[in-house]
Amino acid sequence: MDMKISPSILASDYANLQSELKKIETSDLIHVDVMDGHFVPNISIGAPVVSAIKKVCSVPFDVHLMISDPLKYAEDFASAGADIICFHIESDSDTEETVNKILSLGKKAAIAVKPGTDIDSVIPFLDRLSMVLVMTVEPGFGGQSFMEGVMPKIEKLRALGYKGDIEVDGGVNPETIKIAAKAGANVFVAGSAVFKSENPEDTINLLRKNAADAL
Ligand code: DX5
Ligand code: ZN
Repeated sequence: MDMKISPSILASDYANLQSELKKIETSDLIHVDVMDGHFVPNISIGAPVVSAIKKVCSVPFDVHLMISDPLKYAEDFASAGADIICFHIESDSDTEETVNKILSLGKKAAIAVKPGTDIDSVIPFLDRLSMVLVMTVEPGFGGQSFMEGVMPKIEKLRALGYKGDIEVDGGVNPETIKIAAKAGANVFVAGSAVFKSENPEDTINLLRKNAADAL
């Protein structure tokens, strides 16, 4: 299975997004954290910013919606240039309708689960998802510690025969990535680990290598 690195621009310098994106142009995906100040306490960025950076970046966008009503905004993010639209099963939107909406917009659909949410909740949708995001921190803030305790959820998805992508998000660094890869994850979000490092490109290579070697 391909190991994909998805740096989170939440940890980047928003005053210089274009040059920040240039630093991570060898990554597999760009992780865009969208927060509405309601589903999570913070407000980050919205569709207009996604649309602006799409014009200066050719790496596919992995858009993580931490918002209460993803059904309402899916179309805005699809038009803005999201390639994968990931929403939380704990949001207020109907899960079935939201998955169908994203697919009808011609985008890949993904569902995210918070650390406390049972992974069984995503089982009915697996056949239509290109990715499941298993959060390894409580959503809302960068720079938190990786929660190893959620690994059994990833193992369970693989044991059920799920062959799509499994992403982990939160506290991923060159050490914790090995734990997640062993459990069966293959897409790795890294915010602080990439953007706070001296050489983001080297860090991306190291993350990819450590994930592959862990298997
Ligand atoms: C947290 C966000 C993450 C965050 C990860 O709510 O979903 O994507 O940016 O940041 P790090 O890698 O610093 O833990
Ligand atoms: Zn995220």
